Amino acid sequence: VDGTTLWKPLLGRHALVTAGPTHEPIDPVRYLGNRSSGLQGYAIAEALAALGARVTLVSGPTNLLAPAGVTLRRVETALEMEQAVRDALPADIAVCAAAVADWRVTNAVTSKIKKSADAMPPSLHLVPNPDILAALSAPGPHRPSLVVGFAAETDDVEANAIAKRKRKGCDWIVANDVSVGTNVMGGTENTVLLITSDGVEHWPRMTKTDLALRLARRIARRFGAPAL
Ligand code: CTP
Ligand code: CA
Repeated sequence: VDGTTLWKPLLGRHALVTAGPTHEPIDPVRYLGNRSSGLQGYAIAEALAALGARVTLVSGPTNLLAPAGVTLRRVETALEMEQAVRDALPADIAVCAAAVADWRVTNAVTSKIKKSADAMPPSLHLVPNPDILAALSAPGPHRPSLVVGFAAETDDVEANAIAKRKRKGCDWIVANDVSVGTNVMGGTENTVLLITSDGVEHWPRMTKTDLALRLARRIARRFGAPAL
């Protein structure tokens, strides 16, 4: 008997995971997006489900299939992701792995913008998107008892991630270096720091699948499961 498939420490818990990029429309054929593949968030959703949690995965556009045992809600924009997250509450656990676009275009149009040789290139007017992680982390009756954020950084990863944890009000931050050359965004491996109220843990480079399993086990321990 494979012990790990029988170990269901998260039975009865609801976990909400966000994953992937968001696409912010400019016109019917163009959008603002980013390099997130969704791989890390999908792997976390699958790992939490494997440990017995009921999992709702709210995902921006990706090429990935719904992981086994996970309820997938597909969205396109940050505003749609915010609404789908709200609809999925309450949850015991929230993991925000999505690379939510920080801005959306206010002057998006429903007809394709045509270029013309004499006209100036179009200007995009941007406004900030709502911060889904910060909203989930705010005190209130629906605050999940564990909220985990990610921090995508290219410089001063540790200092920026520690500051980000404070600013967002989340419990843990998984910080990764997404500099060119680390091959994290879109790649299959990740090297992270886990930042909790107890301090900073440096995790070795591993596949996104292994990282997801390790994070899920860590979450299970936070909910009272004994260490494997
Ligand atoms: N996040 C979110 N909603 C947003 C922006 C970010 O939920 N509108 C979440 C991400 O899912 C991630 C965390 O916040 O868990 C950090 O995202 P990141 O882009 O690293 O941080 P920002 O606060 O957006 O700051 P910056 O991009 O300037 O570093
Ligand atoms: Ca951001």
